[in-house]
Amino acid sequence: MMGIMSPRSIQNAQRIRAQEVDSLSKSILRHVKSSPNTPLELNPKLWMLTTNFISQIVLSKRYYPLDEDQETEHAKEYKFVFSELIFLLGSTLPGDCLPFLKWADIGGFQKCGMALKPRFDNIVTKILEERRAKRKEDGDFHVDVDIIDVLLTHQEKGEVPITEANIRGVIWDTFGGATETSISAIEWTMANLIKHPNLMQKVQSEIDNVVGKDNKVTENDIPKLHYLQAVVKENFRLHPPAPFLIPRESHTACKIAGYEIPTSTRMFVNVWGMGRDPCIWEDPLKFIPERFTKGSPLANLEVNGQHYQLMPFGTGRRQCPALSMGLATVTMLIANLVQAFDWSHLGGPNNLDMSESKSSWVTLMATPLQAIPKPRFPDEFY
Ligand code: HEM
Repeated sequence: MMGIMSPRSIQNAQRIRAQEVDSLSKSILRHVKSSPNTPLELNPKLWMLTTNFISQIVLSKRYYPLDEDQETEHAKEYKFVFSELIFLLGSTLPGDCLPFLKWADIGGFQKCGMALKPRFDNIVTKILEERRAKRKEDGDFHVDVDIIDVLLTHQEKGEVPITEANIRGVIWDTFGGATETSISAIEWTMANLIKHPNLMQKVQSEIDNVVGKDNKVTENDIPKLHYLQAVVKENFRLHPPAPFLIPRESHTACKIAGYEIPTSTRMFVNVWGMGRDPCIWEDPLKFIPERFTKGSPLANLEVNGQHYQLMPFGTGRRQCPALSMGLATVTMLIANLVQAFDWSHLGGPNNLDMSESKSSWVTLMATPLQAIPKPRFPDEFY
C-alpha cells in the first residue's frame, strides 16, 4: 500500500487523474450535445472515473475505454462484484451482535458473501495470470510499473513473505477503499453546491480569478483555491464518506468519557455524529464553507487526522493510507466539474433530495444525484 505513496507514484497518479478528469469533461459535453437541458446521473460517470483511476494505479489497466461511455462485460462484472461486496461490508449482521443467531444467517448476508467470493477470486485470478505471463515474457527486461508488480517482485524474491491471499487482500483493500469513498465525497459536494447556487458561483469566481478563463484548472492550482478547499472540508464535515471509520477493539479494559469499556469490545467512532455535534459546531446542520476560510478560528483545521473534530480519513495507525490521493482526487474533480459547467437541478435547488441511503458502509445519497450541466465555455475549451 505504501507503494502508492512513493514520489514516482504520486506523479504518475497526477498524470492519470488529469487524463481521466479530461475524459469526464468530454463525456459530459457529449451528453449536453446529444440531450441538451437533460439531467445527467453523475454516479455512473464517477464510478467509471474512479475505477479507471485506481485500476491504472494498481494494475496499469483501465476497465472502461477512454472517451467512450459503453460498459464492457468485464467492467459490468467488476462493478457488480465490488459494489455488492462494499454493500455487504456496510451491512450489520445480526449474528455479529448476538452470536447465538449466527447459524441463522438472518438477511442471507453470509450466503450472499459465499456466492460472491468465487466471482471476486475469478477477477483477481485473471489479473494475476495476465501479469505473471507478461513478466515471464519480458524476463529480465521487466520493470515494475504498478502495485501488483511490486507485490509480485517481493513475492518472487521471498525477502518478505507475501502470500497469494495477501495480494488478493491488497487488491480488495485498494479498490474497496478507493471507489465508493471518493464517489460519495464528490457526489455530496456537487449536491451541496447545486443546493446553494451562490456558493457554486463563489467557487467558479475563485477558479476564474486564479486560473483564468482560458486555462483548465490543474493540480498545481489547487493550493491557491482556498474557497474550494473550504467547500470540500465542509462537505466532509456533514457527509463523511465513512461515517463510522474502521471498527476498533479495546485491547484492555479502559474508561472513555466516563464509560467503562471491557476488554475486547468492538467500538465505532461516529465521525458523522461528531460533524453534526452542536457542542463543537455552530449551526451544525447548515452548509457554511466560510467556517474554514481565512480569518475564521477554524481556518487552519486540516482533515489529516490531527484535528479530531474533523477526521473523514480517520486517525492513528489505521488512518486512510491514501489520504493525499483521495483528497487530491476529490478536490481536482470538483474544481474541474464546476469550472467547466454550470450545474442545476431540474426541480430547483430546494427540491434536491439530500437524504442518505441507509445501507452500505459509505454514506451515499438515497436518490443518486441527477443534475443538468451547462457548458461555461466554447467547445474548444473541452
Ligand atoms: C475521499 C476519499 C477517501 C476517504 C474519505 C477515505 C476514508 C477512509 C477511512 C475513514 C478509512 C478508515 C480509517 C480509520 O478507521 O481510521 C480508510 C481506510 C482505508 N482507505 Fe481510504 N478513503 C478515501 C480514499 C482512498 C483511496 C483513494 C484509497 C486507495 C488508493 C484508499 C484506501 C484505503 C485503505 C486500503 C484503507 C484501509 C486501511 C487499513 O485497513 O488500515 N482510500 N479510508
